[in-house]
Amino acid sequence: MAAYKNSQPSADLVDRYGRAITYLRVSVTDRCDFRCVYCMSEHMSFLPRKDLLTLEELDRICTAFVARGVRKLRITGGEPLVRKNILWLFESLGRHLQSGQLEELTLTTNGSQLKHYAGALKSAGVERINVSLDTLQPDRFRAITRWGDFSTVMHGFDAADAAGLKVKINAVALKGTNEDEIDDLIRFAHGRGYDLTLIETMPLGEIDGARHDQYLPLSIVRARLLDSWTLDEIDHRTGGPARYVRVRETGGRLGFITPMTHNFCESCNRVRLTCTGTLFMCLGQEDAVDLRQPLRASASDTALQAAIDEAILLKPKGHDFVIDRRVGRPTIARHMIVTGG
Ligand SMILES: C[S@@+](CC[C@H](N)C(=O)[O-])C[C@H]1O[C@@H](n2cnc3c(N)ncnc32)[C@H](O)[C@@H]1O
Ligand code: SF4
Repeated sequence: MAAYKNSQPSADLVDRYGRAITYLRVSVTDRCDFRCVYCMSEHMSFLPRKDLLTLEELDRICTAFVARGVRKLRITGGEPLVRKNILWLFESLGRHLQSGQLEELTLTTNGSQLKHYAGALKSAGVERINVSLDTLQPDRFRAITRWGDFSTVMHGFDAADAAGLKVKINAVALKGTNEDEIDDLIRFAHGRGYDLTLIETMPLGEIDGARHDQYLPLSIVRARLLDSWTLDEIDHRTGGPARYVRVRETGGRLGFITPMTHNFCESCNRVRLTCTGTLFMCLGQEDAVDLRQPLRASASDTALQAAIDEAILLKPKGHDFVIDRRVGRPTIARHMIVTGG
């Protein structure tokens, strides 16, 4: 497949609030081989495959952003590794790492396909990956993911280690589900040399249960951790919203992503592309611009770049997430799989 090379370097992307946009997250599919209880309802309807951008089109949009100063690309979904031929996209985007225009090409995955892909991802230039893992108990893993198999994901971690990928584990803190396992997750992650990041559940899309029943503020988790661990503040940053501490007893890093209890929007540097070519400027707002139409209208990137400029000026100051028993519907109707985690 041919890659497009017609994005000319031009002015960097800066929004109305002076934030430089250097990070693009790309959801390459809304489909997934799991059905995590906080992410999806069990019976989801997915986009018709014909509505998806092709991999060449995704490459072209990513390349247009790289030409405008985006330094970090994260491929996500849905489950990015279930998209057919997805390796081609990683291999193609790897050229921007080689040219030095791109600092990092990475992905967020549930780990189910990692044992097949870890080596090839590393060869394509991926150095670090995020793997989502909310529990170390196989039965609980099945209950949370509905369809996932714990041992397959464990083999995925082994494959990632063997390939030399640096791993960060993401765990969503869920009230009454895994809140008794945070210490074990710390021991597991740090024992394998991985960072661990805890995430607050966000009110994105309809799920089968009540969001309020799952929501566990990380302020509570952090206070509890102090009974067992010494948490030293550090200023490590990975370009994302996590704030890190070092756990003195393990020497490992522990991150907190707290969209609910602490809003981090003032330093937001990212925008999100859906698999149908819609650019969302904020995970928690509806502001969006269609890039598919200008992309398909011409083989030149002039209209596409104009649409990107228009989009960046729409980036809102921040999100307004609310999780409240009295508010019966999600703050944002779309699921995390649309814009990627
Ligand atoms: C949508 S998933 C996509 C990538 C891949 N399937 C995975 O699970 O890593 C990305 C991340 O979003 C998280 N996530 C999904 N729904 C969420 C929600 N409503 N609130 C907070 N995090 C969520 C997942 O736990 C995962 O870490
Ligand atoms: S969190 Fe990831 S693995 Fe779980 S259902 Fe959502 S997209 Fe799939």
